[in-house]
Amino acid sequence: MDKAFWDERWRENRIGFHKAAANPLLTGYFDRLHLSPGGRVFVPLCGKSFDLDWLLSRGHAVVGIELYEPAVAEVFDRLGLRPRIDALSGLRRYSADELVIFAGDLFHLTSELLGSVDAVYDRAALIALPPDMRARYAAHVTAICGAVPQLLITLDYDQSLTDGPPFSVPGDEVRALYGASHWTEKLHVQPITGSVAKSAKGEETLWSLKPL
Ligand SMILES: C[S@@+](CC[C@H](N)C(=O)[O-])C[C@H]1O[C@@H](n2cnc3c(N)ncnc32)[C@H](O)[C@@H]1O
Repeated sequence: MDKAFWDERWRENRIGFHKAAANPLLTGYFDRLHLSPGGRVFVPLCGKSFDLDWLLSRGHAVVGIELYEPAVAEVFDRLGLRPRIDALSGLRRYSADELVIFAGDLFHLTSELLGSVDAVYDRAALIALPPDMRARYAAHVTAICGAVPQLLITLDYDQSLTDGPPFSVPGDEVRALYGASHWTEKLHVQPITGSVAKSAKGEETLWSLKPL
């Protein structure tokens, strides 16, 4: 799941993960983060998700990172924002008003470049990555964000029935990845829908991760 893989998915418009509206689990449960007005939310592997627009509409500052730069540019176009673009340590930072999106690899993002964040929202980021990348991903997100609350959406299904992404990340793995730094609590569980559901039954879970 390297840059070439994702570039191809985007160029060929095989982006079934991209939805036409903000995710109902975000809109329904975001208040559980008890974020202060204006709090800054980090959205790793953000694509061109409408979740970004929704968070901005709630008065939050939003910072994302996405490998595929045309998707980053599209978000600013959609919002009618003309971004300033800065080249920084192998990343290109698009910024306008309360929105910052880095175009480039999450693993090149440092806490200094990211700046202070108050919460993380992970939809289709952890589960977009294969098993051998997930521990590195979770450790990196925790390292650059510090101890902040997180909303995390995962899928749990029989991985032998179909390949990811999106991958199955069962509860034990969520606890192994984040349990040393966060309390993990399931806020909502529902049957899987979408492409995976054609091959496997399973659960989609919204987690609240609270710093210990
Ligand atoms: C499954 S999509 C989810 C996008 C978005 N969160 C959403 O809900 O629509 C995963 C995204 O992560 C991006 N991506 C994958 N690896 C990345 C990395 N190392 N750094 C930044 N973005 C990455 C891909 O280009 C893709 O747009």
